Amino acid sequence: MSATEASAVTTVGVLDSGVGGLSVVAAMQRAMPALPVRYIADTARFPYGDRTAEEVAARTLALGARLIDEGCALVVVACNTASSAALELLRGRFDVPIVGMEPPLKPAAERTRSGHVAVLATAGTADGERLARLHASFAGDREVLTVPMSGLADLVEAGEIAGPRVESILAAAVIELRAHEVDEVALGCTHYAFLRDALSAMLGPGVEIIDTAEPVARRVRQQLEAYGFAVPEGEAVAARCTATGGAGAFEATLDRLRAAGADLPALEVVEEVPA
Ligand code: DGL
Repeated sequence: MSATEASAVTTVGVLDSGVGGLSVVAAMQRAMPALPVRYIADTARFPYGDRTAEEVAARTLALGARLIDEGCALVVVACNTASSAALELLRGRFDVPIVGMEPPLKPAAERTRSGHVAVLATAGTADGERLARLHASFAGDREVLTVPMSGLADLVEAGEIAGPRVESILAAAVIELRAHEVDEVALGCTHYAFLRDALSAMLGPGVEIIDTAEPVARRVRQQLEAYGFAVPEGEAVAARCTATGGAGAFEATLDRLRAAGADLPALEVVEEVPA
């Protein structure tokens, strides 16, 4: 690789169905504050978790193509549901490195003392082959409780990360986790990262919650370096963000999340140019 290639400042594209992937962008900004990030929230098609794998794959391919057309040198599929449906397709279709997400079942299976772990995920991820493969490869000797959290990502997408509606969905899951003596909980949806505090308060001490935003941020750095892109140093830059369902509604959600104390990255929301 040439010195010019090695020093090129590059933009990383990130996609999700909505605000969930911002938990990954926040981790990327903590690790690489000066890295330019372009974010697309496919809010017009939210939630991915209730769609067929084919629908989600088609959207993920379209948004991945769009990010690459815009000049992104690496794409992060910051959505477990989209990764489950389309990661291999994206890698087969595009030349740029693609970083995906999967529920952190492997570390959960390694760290459990009780031998009982849980994955909280959307229906799409819970039913997907990727999770079944993870289970077989890394957690065959553990009891893995997969809990599809119907409606939970919808609350986060509405800016609700605490309060009675969130607690009522989490409470049903917590009863199941306790009944199975689960001591490691793998968050299998990027939206759920914003519910860590609420869930942790309900689970109490002795149960660890694992999410993958930080490891994914490390993987982004590794991949950039492996492909010869310098990770820029210097002033922090805000992620440039669009939502397919319109900037206004997305801004309103962000305002609600901020007011509720969510750890959001620095963002500049721009009006959607139709895809
Ligand atoms: N953020 C997505 C994930 O990580 C799911 C939200 C949705 O259902 O669209 O799976």
